[in-house]
Amino acid sequence: MAPKKIALIISSTRAIRIGPSVVSFIQSLLSSSTASPKPELSIVDIASFNLPVYNEKAIPQTVPAMAQFEHAHSKAWSAAIAPFDGYVFVSPEYNFGVPGGVKNAIDYLYNEWIGKPVFIVTYGIQGGTNASESLKTILEGMKLRVVATRPNLKFAGLPAMDEVFAAAAGALGEKTLKSWEESEVVKKELLDGFAELVQKVEEPAVAPVNST
Ligand SMILES: Cc1cc2nc3c(=O)[nH]c(=O)nc-3n(C[C@H](O)[C@H](O)[C@H](O)COP(=O)(O)O)c2cc1C
Repeated sequence: MAPKKIALIISSTRAIRIGPSVVSFIQSLLSSSTASPKPELSIVDIASFNLPVYNEKAIPQTVPAMAQFEHAHSKAWSAAIAPFDGYVFVSPEYNFGVPGGVKNAIDYLYNEWIGKPVFIVTYGIQGGTNASESLKTILEGMKLRVVATRPNLKFAGLPAMDEVFAAAAGALGEKTLKSWEESEVVKKELLDGFAELVQKVEEPAVAPVNST
């Protein structure tokens, strides 16, 4: 049987950002996972879709049964997300919650998401715990199956601000990356959450109909 497809979603959309470096660290760790059957991992970058604040006439729940997306950006985002069996949201925290660009990207779609399993990984000065909670509420409300383990990747070296300033300038700090690479807790949580995701991906899909 063909391997299940999982998308690692780069969720930050700043012009300079650490999101791609965080996803690269996670991808290389997950590629060592022994979770079986081994899924196929791909990276999807929200920023590359240049989504404006939701501007379709249609309500996403009605697409495609009763309406169609009008704009090319929505069609492209839908086509990118729909083929996957599960998702890993790798999201920063902005102002004590999920970044607006992530919420907006989620809001664009409905039937592409629902019923599917999702693993939430957040990062930030304190690990992005508020963003993780917001994402859990949003995605569970939309009937995605959120896995129990939700790692929070914290910046190292606090209270000194050099790692925070490096991240603000778009560079994942060396101390931070080293602390993640050497942390048994980070490794365990990422591999445990991924194993939970792989298990859920193999479970029968939940019917994505009239589920609000
Ligand atoms: C608008 C904005 C708000 C932020 N708010 C928070 C916050 O509430 N909590 C936190 O831990 N970090 C916060 N940060 C710091 C981010 O964790 C840090 O800049 C990180 O690099 C953001 O991820 P990105 O580079 O992938 O965009 C904020 C950063 C920005 C740009």
